Amino acid sequence: MVARYGRLARVVVPSVVLATAVTGCATGGDRPVPLTVSRGQIGIALPTTKSPRWIADGDNMVHQLDLLGYTTDLQYAEDDVDKQIAQLDGMVAQNVKALVVGSIDGSKLKDVLQKAAAAKIPVIAYDRLLRDTPNVDYYATFDNFRVGVLQAETIVAKLKLADRAGPFTVELFAGSPDDNNAHVFFAGSMSVLKPYLAAGKLVVGSGQTAFEDIATPRWDGATAQKRMEGLLAGPDAKKRIDAVLSPYDGISRGVITALKDVGYGAGGRPLPVVTGQDAELDSVKLIVGGQQTETVYKDTRELAKVAVQMVDSLAKGGKPAVNDTSQYHNGVKAVPTFLLQPVNVDKSNYQRVLIDGGYYAANQLAA
Ligand code: GAL
Repeated sequence: MVARYGRLARVVVPSVVLATAVTGCATGGDRPVPLTVSRGQIGIALPTTKSPRWIADGDNMVHQLDLLGYTTDLQYAEDDVDKQIAQLDGMVAQNVKALVVGSIDGSKLKDVLQKAAAAKIPVIAYDRLLRDTPNVDYYATFDNFRVGVLQAETIVAKLKLADRAGPFTVELFAGSPDDNNAHVFFAGSMSVLKPYLAAGKLVVGSGQTAFEDIATPRWDGATAQKRMEGLLAGPDAKKRIDAVLSPYDGISRGVITALKDVGYGAGGRPLPVVTGQDAELDSVKLIVGGQQTETVYKDTRELAKVAVQMVDSLAKGGKPAVNDTSQYHNGVKAVPTFLLQPVNVDKSNYQRVLIDGGYYAANQLAA
């Protein structure tokens, strides 16, 4: 299913209201009044609606752009690369004012991005780096290396690796190989775990440590569950798993299901430390219930804000603010980037960070 939330200019309002609206102020009670004169259409191409975060990202950008007077064409490609290329082709043909792209396969959009460049349409890579092309102007993301570090630090802290000799058994999972982020998350995690692996305090039960052996195409939870089931029936059948490095909540839930199916989490056999990312509601519930240990929270409202500010600045002929110009080399060039900081969330701080921070309402966490 392709979700489309294109917004078109809708109503004609008196100029006095328009003047208010153009300054970005909301009118008409507590709901913002849509602007009458569009500052142009912005194409937003996102990977999938399977993961709730991308729905939130899309909604947040549409909402914020709407307030600034832009119309939007938001499309999801449901993890189908050709579909995303076709969607981007269509946006370029419409001559959108800018493109915001959360890619599926970061290396497969070169040709359509070339068309965007020829049409002088600026391109912002959203969350995931667009690789192997000169035709990406800016990158809005979180500090992805730090995400991996936070996940691994959770394992180190919960197993008290600094003070205990071990050995503890761990399994490693990584994300989708065609997503640059997956490689950066893993590199961040390994920067923390390597010394413990080298010292033998941590042992990978299956011996699988190479990225290609532990990757999870399309970040698919069912694929991760299957791999975990295979490990539990094979190399880990007689071992006690103490920790699982998981880069993303959807993968974590697949892993936890596999573990519970063979008896972890019951009868004096505790679940291992399991990490995650995105603070997905279903995983936050597992954290509250003591089944998933942590998640790395990335406030999608803030990321949307950064991307929208980039769009707005480019549309006005300005230069978007960035805070990193060297870390994200896409194979052709270092892409000017704005990095936001991810936050570690576990049972001890979910209330303060996620509920008090307004990301979720308390009643959403009720079973
Ligand atoms: C990554 C993203 C993560 C997670 C994952 C699966 O690119 O940075 O936050 O959402 O994709 O969707």
